[in-house]
Amino acid sequence: MKPIKRIGVLTSGGDAPGMNAAIRSVVRTAMGYHISCLGIRRGYNGLINGDVVDLNARSVDGIVQKGGTMLYTARCDEFKTEEGQKKAAATCKYLGIDGLVVIGGDGTFRGALDLSKTGVNTIAIPGTIDNDIACTDYTIGFDTACNTALEAIDKLRDTMQSHERCSVVEVMGRHSGNLAMYVGIACGATATLVPEENVDFETEVFEKMRNGRISGRNHHIIIVAEGYGHAQTIADRIHEETGMEARVTVLGHVQRGGRPTCRDRVAASRLGSKAVDLLMEGKTNRVVGFKQNQLTDIDIAEALSMKSEFHSDLYDVLCRIAL
Ligand code: ADP
Ligand code: F6P
Repeated sequence: MKPIKRIGVLTSGGDAPGMNAAIRSVVRTAMGYHISCLGIRRGYNGLINGDVVDLNARSVDGIVQKGGTMLYTARCDEFKTEEGQKKAAATCKYLGIDGLVVIGGDGTFRGALDLSKTGVNTIAIPGTIDNDIACTDYTIGFDTACNTALEAIDKLRDTMQSHERCSVVEVMGRHSGNLAMYVGIACGATATLVPEENVDFETEVFEKMRNGRISGRNHHIIIVAEGYGHAQTIADRIHEETGMEARVTVLGHVQRGGRPTCRDRVAASRLGSKAVDLLMEGKTNRVVGFKQNQLTDIDIAEALSMKSEFHSDLYDVLCRIAL
């Protein structure tokens, strides 16, 4: 492999707080190697259209504390086609991009795998609030999203307590209950509903609410992951069955924004540096991540073939202490 002189960095798919910290780390680590760095804007669209910006240590000043992504993000259907990928590869060649760092979720990794087949050296960094990528224990943005949801739910609890109501809170996670489980444990939810578990409503929700009432609990928080079902339907069932007033809050995209927590800033910075190190070592087609808080890297195809495991230990704790 010829020596790397210029690398590109892009963010793609759903944004996640901490992506900026990852971009900053990629750029600053590249500066340490005395290689130049291009920011590619709007995900893979930027590669197809040559929408790029020069980045240096100063152009990434003041972003470590900001949510969102300074490079914008997008979903790009054209990149899923062979023609789109050829255009992207041609842009890399034209701009002298010897190595590319992509930050996103597993869709973004699929794109990276395709691009690496055209000869572009590619490293992928996991960034998604869902924390649902099998090859890594952690993805950038998860901690911030949990804390954002928690802050809102703590406020909801105050008003639920005053009115003796039940709050049904929908958190993000179309296919994954990770965010819901963390938030459910941390906010003291009476029940947490996740797409991976088909619960018996009678025992897991109604009975817990009734028992709670008998033992003196006057209000409830029920967490529902987006992928489980509609919060309003659940609230209606609760009202019908228990007679308790129920109110719905859909936290939605608020969970995707905001100042990244310390954990996300540090994780993103570590992953960004590691990605550039790998490119400089001549490696390509790898996903960086964490196992037991140690940085790891793994072949992208292998990473994509791994199935994300449901954290049943977490779910157990959740159920046992929700009394
Ligand atoms: P995430 O990266 O958050 O999982 P998406 O699934 O929306 O988000 O993927 C982000 C982008 O990655 C897509 O818009 C597309 O440009 C690219 N991508 C996704 N899947 C593929 C694929 N199978 N082949 C090539 N590119 C893909
Ligand atoms: O993958 C991150 C995520 O926020 C999911 O939790 C959610 O289901 C989805 O993205 C929402 O995507 P969009 O940005 O298209 O609304």
